[in-house]
Amino acid sequence: MNQIINIQKSSVIEDLLKKSEDVLKQNWRNGFTVPSSNLYPFQWLWDSGFIAMGWSFVDMEKARQELNTLFDAQWSNGFLPHIIFHDDNAEKQYFPGADFQGAYTHPFAPKHVKTSGITQPPVLGFVLEYLFEKEEKITQYRDFYINAVEAIYKFHQYLYQNRDPHNEGLVYIRHNWESGTDNSAAWDSIWQTYTPPTYDVQRKDTAHVNQAQRPTKKDYNYYLHLIEQSKNCAYDEQKMYETLPFLVQDPLFNSLLVASNKSLARMAVELNLPHIAEQCSIWSDKTGQAINTKLYDDELGLYGYYDLKNERFISIATAMGFSPLFAGIVSQQRAIRLLKIIESDAFMGSESSVCLCPSLAINHQEFDPKRYWRGPVWLNINWLLYKGFDSYGFKGIARTIKNDSIRLVEENGFFEYFNPISDTNEVNGYGGQNFSWTAAIILDMLN
Ligand code: GLC
Repeated sequence: MNQIINIQKSSVIEDLLKKSEDVLKQNWRNGFTVPSSNLYPFQWLWDSGFIAMGWSFVDMEKARQELNTLFDAQWSNGFLPHIIFHDDNAEKQYFPGADFQGAYTHPFAPKHVKTSGITQPPVLGFVLEYLFEKEEKITQYRDFYINAVEAIYKFHQYLYQNRDPHNEGLVYIRHNWESGTDNSAAWDSIWQTYTPPTYDVQRKDTAHVNQAQRPTKKDYNYYLHLIEQSKNCAYDEQKMYETLPFLVQDPLFNSLLVASNKSLARMAVELNLPHIAEQCSIWSDKTGQAINTKLYDDELGLYGYYDLKNERFISIATAMGFSPLFAGIVSQQRAIRLLKIIESDAFMGSESSVCLCPSLAINHQEFDPKRYWRGPVWLNINWLLYKGFDSYGFKGIARTIKNDSIRLVEENGFFEYFNPISDTNEVNGYGGQNFSWTAAIILDMLN
């Protein structure tokens, strides 16, 4: 009997692995992978990081290329853009395209390809180490790793030099899209401080995905306004700092920066780049401490956000509030509290049917199980939490997060995000289909 169950189980796993590979292969273009073919037809920064990890199970060469195309679009000041358009006809396929964003004329921007002027969470350091550890012939690819470490180091240097005005060790994001968690309820109190103009534009996302599962029209006014204001500043960092109404110290962004700094430091030792090793250790200590002092919310028992513009703490229970675990900077005492919070009604609900981890606490008044970052489960965040809890020895919760992730994909398909409160009568996956990072995370979790 047990043997039959095992055989059935292994064929389900085989099937999921095969499908994950197919998703990556379908979404591969010449040198990079699109997150999802219609909805996101270009290259996105942090998507490519997770995607490269996925490729490492299928084709190491493609994993390296995925990162090289990102570095190829790096600005001369180290900045890494969140979108590389890779196509002159960007406006036809995506909104807001390269022209609306108006960043590619910046003197530091590359000349051979158009990019956006905002960035995304700094995942590349730990992604590179993930590849580095799997590389069979490190001597053969030594140059690739040295160049990559240097490129990522330059990006971090850009962040510390331009995004940390008070030298606190915490870098800010200047657009909500930079967080990767676009319409998070964490920004609501910021949006309440001003009224943006109304943009009468043709969105393309809602042609592919049900409007009820995407940010609202009103939300888009804020997002486009920030882009327009940045453009009016000619993407000059100092001017943007002085003008933009959105400047946030985000726990996810900063935690991933710590994790990436630690990875860079370790690789730099092996690659004999002592100045990088030393600087990245200094950065990771400083940022780690600052996250613990400034972003820990003792009342909620979770990490929160700091609104640098309005100088106030944003207390809110999101899945991203657990991300410092991934960076390994949480004390054992706080880690135990984080464990209690994720196991509480706020995230697990009182019934066992909730799949971890809802992006917003399910008892939050704004919780919406279908609307993007205001409730649904995202697999990349789940991966960070699964790794984070696991590294603290909380094996049970780590296994639950992993199993829930696999179950959501198995039951619904390779969607962009999922309803944490499964309804057995409908598909509980939303947004882009055949979503690349979902496939990449499944490859990791099942291998
Ligand atoms: C959405 C997500 C963002 C992601 C992008 C491409 O904007 O919020 O995190 O990078 O889609 O997949």
